[in-house]
Amino acid sequence: MASSFVVCRLRMWGRGSLVRCLQKVDTFPRRSIGTNVVAAQAEATRKDESDEKEKDGQKSLYAVQTERQEQAERSVLISCHSRTNENKFLKYLSRHGDIKTHFFYESYGMYAVVEFANRESVASLLEEAAIPSVSHESMVPFKSRLLSVSDLSSVDSANQKSGQKCRPQTSTPINELIQRLSREESIDRQITSLTEAYQLTEENSRLRFLVCSLLKDIAAAYFPECTIKPFGSSVNGFGKLGCDLDMFLDLDGITGRNVKMPKSGLFLEYQMKRANSERAVTQSILSVIGECVDQFGPGCVGVQKILNARCPLVRFAHQPSGFQCDLTANNRVAMKSTELLYLYGEVDPRVRCLVFTVRCWARAHGITSSIPGAWITNFSLTVMVLFFLQRRSPPIIPTLDHLRDLAGPADKSVIEGNDCTFVSDFSKIQLHSNTETLEQLLCEFFEFYATFAFSRMSVNIRKGKEQNKPEVAPLHIQNPFETSLNVSKNVNATQLDRFVALCQESAWILQQSGTNMPRDHRGGDTPAPWGLATILLPLQVAGVKSRKKKRREPASERIKSLLESLKNKNQQKMN
Ligand code: CTP
Ligand code: MG
Repeated sequence: MASSFVVCRLRMWGRGSLVRCLQKVDTFPRRSIGTNVVAAQAEATRKDESDEKEKDGQKSLYAVQTERQEQAERSVLISCHSRTNENKFLKYLSRHGDIKTHFFYESYGMYAVVEFANRESVASLLEEAAIPSVSHESMVPFKSRLLSVSDLSSVDSANQKSGQKCRPQTSTPINELIQRLSREESIDRQITSLTEAYQLTEENSRLRFLVCSLLKDIAAAYFPECTIKPFGSSVNGFGKLGCDLDMFLDLDGITGRNVKMPKSGLFLEYQMKRANSERAVTQSILSVIGECVDQFGPGCVGVQKILNARCPLVRFAHQPSGFQCDLTANNRVAMKSTELLYLYGEVDPRVRCLVFTVRCWARAHGITSSIPGAWITNFSLTVMVLFFLQRRSPPIIPTLDHLRDLAGPADKSVIEGNDCTFVSDFSKIQLHSNTETLEQLLCEFFEFYATFAFSRMSVNIRKGKEQNKPEVAPLHIQNPFETSLNVSKNVNATQLDRFVALCQESAWILQQSGTNMPRDHRGGDTPAPWGLATILLPLQVAGVKSRKKKRREPASERIKSLLESLKNKNQQKMN
């Protein structure tokens, strides 16, 4: 593929740097992003390369995952008192070693995440901790890194202020967000402000990895060398506070996948009995782990084993963190799509902002839902945004085929017959210099899908072009790696029609709204919603069947324009 792309040098942003980076969008530099390794294979090479890049201030998804996993293993989750005195609490714990970081949060009670400098401190703390003996209840004697402190010496008396500052783990309520956005001066600022308010915080990311690590301790009873990694929106850069925690039980380290004959000639007689298919093995593994989580998992409630789904999973709520968790195994294609989404989010800062805004807009109008059904999913919506960005002129992000063509030998990845190869070295990706603003892009996104030929065409990020639909489903979005699958197979015509009608209405409203905050909105305590804030409010869309909607003006406006037209007619007559 001949197209060339130029990327600006990006890093994993903190909240402040997001704004700074976006302010530079209009003068997008033509330079390369540097190496960023995310290949699934050649892990040793990958580690060296990502260490190398980290020195340069960049982090690949692989490097982020490794660092966060290691952090999580040095951390404990402690249920504490709402009046726990921070200083006394830290002094009490630091008897076991230096504390690197900590924070408090509330979720059905007060909790603290404490990261020690060394793993030995966690072992020392656990050694001291005892399983409570409750007279009227029997307890499963399972030691975990979810602890509770009953030592009242770290708790202040009722009338004293505790001094601990809680970090919020849920996103800003929509009404508050609308007010916040209405105070912004431009639609571009509204979009970055929304992204800042909704993206996962540093603490929330840490908590997600810690929950995976706690789960790993349970799974390790069966598979001592397993790892549990988060995937999906928890790590792909598009996660909103409160999103579910998708986890992947990775046994690749012990299955000897890709190993033909060990040097020693020895094979372990495996705990697993032989099974008919890989799916059957996955189901067995998840069944026993699900049972363990249900019986022994501290804080894990409402465990459901959904083993007959296309992708078998164990679903449960982790009460201490407040996360809804989905544990899967052998789901390596989803890991690849997570890496791909992460890559797209990293190559241009506008990608994440647009995805967040569209996701938030869709949720506000009930286009997406946390309940499974015929709705469009966040994953489908994200792919739709990516496709739209590939269709800009010049394109903002490259096609997946282009990323595959740029791949080196170490990037080659074929999973269950699906080609999941794409470049891991970001320095090879050259971006076109497209200077469209976020406001333009948002408006164009709505226009694009308001008029998209959904009845004939399929959304395809591999080719970056509409393709003829291979099936009759109302919405066809090709799965990027399992290309025979439609990621939006669940979506019915009613839901698609609602999406299209809302795109029409939102495009119309944004076109009417000026780029900057209206003059008469300035200065008030609670400014009237304008721009992006308006399209997050309930919209009056016509019956879902009618694609062309005529907007009714307020009565005062109608009378004003009637008087205007009468005046004009009279003037014409007089001339
Ligand atoms: N996935 C996939 N194919 C699908 C659905 C999901 O490959 N048909 C992968 C994607 O990598 C997705 C991840 O599984 O990101 C998790 O799916 P899901 O939880 O549905 O989406 P998220 O992106 O995590 O979004 P949300 O915030 O709604 O959880
Ligand atoms: Mg998810």
